[in-house]
This record gives sequence, structure tokens and C-alpha cells, in this order.
Amino acid sequence: MSWKTKQSGTMDVPKRSEPYCTAKMLEHWKSVILPRYATTHGALMPILHDVQHEYRHIPYQAMIEIATFLKIAPSEVLDTVSFYEEYTTKPVGKCVIGVCHTFACEICGHQAIVDRVRARLGIEPHETTADGAFTLLTMECLGSCDTAPVALFNETLHEKLTVEKVDQLIDEALKVMSQPAKATPHP
Ligand code: FES
Repeated sequence: MSWKTKQSGTMDVPKRSEPYCTAKMLEHWKSVILPRYATTHGALMPILHDVQHEYRHIPYQAMIEIATFLKIAPSEVLDTVSFYEEYTTKPVGKCVIGVCHTFACEICGHQAIVDRVRARLGIEPHETTADGAFTLLTMECLGSCDTAPVALFNETLHEKLTVEKVDQLIDEALKVMSQPAKATPHP
């Protein structure tokens, strides 16, 4: 009997003519990020962070561009993207709400927090609102068990959450999103 093999490496990668990793990004990575690390692999996560921040996801084409820049295999980039919750291959909302659902938060009422977000925004965990404004995630322990329940609103951790506080945070996020976009200093 022989093993049947399949071509796993022939996935079609959607391509656009313009690169995702802009000249400005490449210059920033080369002059600021790479020198911080002993190996190019070390720079992978901060580079992915930049791309995720810029495009709200990491397109497959960008993974190939990053692999070329770092001189590593595209599969290594994909492995990292698929391992960490921080990175996504589909666009997330402008405001990503990550509610911790691990033990301490679970017993301190994380479900009420999740339910409030669901009711306010009409989305289930791991969904994004149709207008691309919010994504709701449930996350593993965020390292702040003594102040449970907690949630991230983008990169800011909010502790000892209540339903009222969640309402307030969503209102604040909506207010920020309704303001004209400012030029971002991000590469
Ligand atoms: S269980 Fe939620 S922060 Fe640790």
C-alpha cells in the first residue's frame, strides 16, 4: 500500500498589484525593528503587529512579502499568524472587544459582559458588525485574574468590568469613530 499525497502548498493567494508592505514600513522595519533583534525571526511578531494594525488583518499576500523581507519561509509567517489570537487573516472591526472567558473571569460574570456586547452590537463572539466598527472575541486569560472580569478594547485592558462600564466604553468607541480620522503616525 502506498500513501496518497495531496498538494497542500498550492493554495491560491489573492493578490493585488500594490504591495501591503509599503516602502515606509520596510524602511521602518529595517532601521528600527531589525536592529533590536539578534535574528530576523525575532522581528516577525512586531512586524506582524504593524501589518495587523494597519490593515486590521494580515492578508496572505502580506505574509509572503514579510517572508521575503525577513528571508524566511512563508509557512513560518503563517504558523505565527495562526497561533496568536492577536493576528487575523480576515479584517476585524476598528474596535476589537476581547472578553476574557477563562476561569476567574467566568466565575466573576464574564457572561454578563459578553451578553451586553452581543445585545448592544447584535453580534456573536468572533463576529464583526456589518459596518466594520466592532469585533467581539472571547479570549483566554489576559493575566489580570485578580481584577476579573476583564476585557480588552483594542489594546487597552479594562478591569472589574460591569455592564454599565461596557455601555460606557462602547459609547466612547462610537464617539471616537464618529470623529474625522486623524493622520496616523504609524508606519
Ligand atoms: S481569567 Fe480572566 S484575566 Fe485571568
